[in-house]
Amino acid sequence: MRQPLVAGNWKMNGSLEGVKALLVGIKAGIGTVARAEVAVCPPTVFIPEAQAALQGTSIAWGGQDVSVHASGAYTGEIAGSMLKDLGCKYVIIGHSERRTYHAESDALVAEKFAAALHASLIPIFCVGETLEQREQGITEQVVGRQVDAVIERGGVDMLNKGVVAYEPVWAIGTGRTATPEQAQDVHAFIRGRIAAHSAEVAQSIRILYGGSMKPDNAAELLAKPDIDGGLIGGAALKATDFLAICAAAN
Ligand code: 13P
Repeated sequence: MRQPLVAGNWKMNGSLEGVKALLVGIKAGIGTVARAEVAVCPPTVFIPEAQAALQGTSIAWGGQDVSVHASGAYTGEIAGSMLKDLGCKYVIIGHSERRTYHAESDALVAEKFAAALHASLIPIFCVGETLEQREQGITEQVVGRQVDAVIERGGVDMLNKGVVAYEPVWAIGTGRTATPEQAQDVHAFIRGRIAAHSAEVAQSIRILYGGSMKPDNAAELLAKPDIDGGLIGGAALKATDFLAICAAAN
């Protein structure tokens, strides 16, 4: 049985005061969430706030990106060991916003996957097609290639140490969510792709859905057999909405 994971990706939102209030709100309501694992990924500079607020609770925290380098002259980059120093459990890698705005390739994302593991962080590895690619009918080709890049880099056993997040780019921040059937189809495809290497890993690995998941559509998405949780953007910025999604994952 795969334990659901609901992770909030706060992206580049918030202020010191706002983050503190959000953490208080999430902490106050989390008592009702029993089965699902819950995590938040604040902007890097606010991770110490998450650490201070969430230490000793059941809520984990993580980063939104990691450098492929361990240390050195890489201005602006954050090493995995630094996230680990701040108590992070997870780190998001390969988010479509990184792939698009920072030209991150499949190969670079696979390197980041390895770098995260090297720092004992659990990568939340994002994959997903653009609207154009979906309309061209090449969703499986694109997502398959993204998944294969990590398997080629470190084998299916490396992939197994992370969590996959399927985020159709056209559903991110658009309010246009994938239907539960559309999402389930791609999740089943990803699991099948992994099963070609290891049936065991395919069965155990968690595959989250991300893209306009909200309190009013979370339950039907999460009811699908291959959807093991959510990676939440906009709705993770409001404690009551985020908690409602966490509750739907139970
Ligand atoms: P939204 O939930 O705002 O669509 O964002 C999803 C996402 O990109 C999470 O990583």
